[in-house]
Amino acid sequence: MNQRIFLSPPHMGGNELTYIHEAFESNYIAPLGHNVDAFEAQIKAYTGAKYALAVTSGTAAIHLALRVLGIKEGDEVMASTFTFIGSVVPILYERCTPFFIDSDTASWNLDPNLLEEELSQRASQGKKQPKALIVTHLYGQCADIKRLSAICEHYGVYLIEDAAESLGAGFEGKQTGTFGKMGIYSFNGNKIITTSGGGMLVSDDETLIAHARHLSTQARDNAPHYEHTEYGYNYRMSNIIAGIGRGQMEVLSERIERRREIFDLYHKALCEIEGISFMPELEGSIGNRWLTTLLLPQHISPESLRLTLEAENIESRPLWKPMHAQPLFQGAQGRLNGLSDTLFKRGICLPSGSSLTDNDVERIVSLVKQAIERN
Ligand SMILES: Cc1ncc(COP(=O)(O)O)c(C=O)c1O
Repeated sequence: MNQRIFLSPPHMGGNELTYIHEAFESNYIAPLGHNVDAFEAQIKAYTGAKYALAVTSGTAAIHLALRVLGIKEGDEVMASTFTFIGSVVPILYERCTPFFIDSDTASWNLDPNLLEEELSQRASQGKKQPKALIVTHLYGQCADIKRLSAICEHYGVYLIEDAAESLGAGFEGKQTGTFGKMGIYSFNGNKIITTSGGGMLVSDDETLIAHARHLSTQARDNAPHYEHTEYGYNYRMSNIIAGIGRGQMEVLSERIERRREIFDLYHKALCEIEGISFMPELEGSIGNRWLTTLLLPQHISPESLRLTLEAENIESRPLWKPMHAQPLFQGAQGRLNGLSDTLFKRGICLPSGSSLTDNDVERIVSLVKQAIERN
């Protein structure tokens, strides 16, 4: 059996262990220390965000964003329907009401027209507006973030950017995660860089990040004993994990370059096939191409291709099942146009890890071609 090809495996740079050793040498085997500070500083320098907070996961970062923005039980939060559960489950943690917005064909991400229609209709009818919008930059590709940001500003809605998958992607030279009031990144094991698990909350608002920092360490007040006036969480990133993050940040640009090359290889080999289309890159943006994703011709189902690849020990995956179609969100409201349902039915993610060789890609391409011809 050939060695397994994973969808997006971790790809270490080389210096991660050095920084882990530093943590051991300093004995900061704790959720604080030099690696945590240095990793936050690297993220700020790279993204241009003024403040950053390293936490245990991207989901935790979104949860903290909702808390510090004062979003409370009963409030409504709008979100991309075409996303991963981690993006929206904090809405449930806070007992808020989700409202899902569908995608557009130009980006496969949240459709600004649908958002504007919904908010302007509510305004003209004197209805309540949502407190926040969580926008995902899916698969490392930018949403129409400048327009979404302007719409949110116009209607007084907080914009939270879920850049879990899109670290390094930018729109007109500005990094995803830095357009909104708050942004988040994930360093889960499958992301473009990883710390095994981890996340980062960023903002240009010092007070918000200071509050999130307080909440992430059990909301302990300033006293020699343990004093608490509000409840928090145990969400702070470990100094060991942050050591991995430091090493990974050193190779982030190379990782993006390779992912984009892998996309180009797939695209060149498959784009001529009738019925195939790749996730677009919105004009003015540069994605990190975290995963290469494409729609298949009508006559072949993503599941049959997935099984064909699996038989060769190659991992692939359907596109995210939209949130409005999840049993968990049955009955949730939304403004939908059917696109995310189609993307889910017809789309597949191909192996895209930065350690993939050109030969691996060629092998996968020929299996895809054979499967399409056979069906
Ligand atoms: C779009 C999106 N949002 C949120 C998350 C949550 O991040 P984490 O797994 O670090 O909690 C992920 C990834 O896992 C994601 O892909």
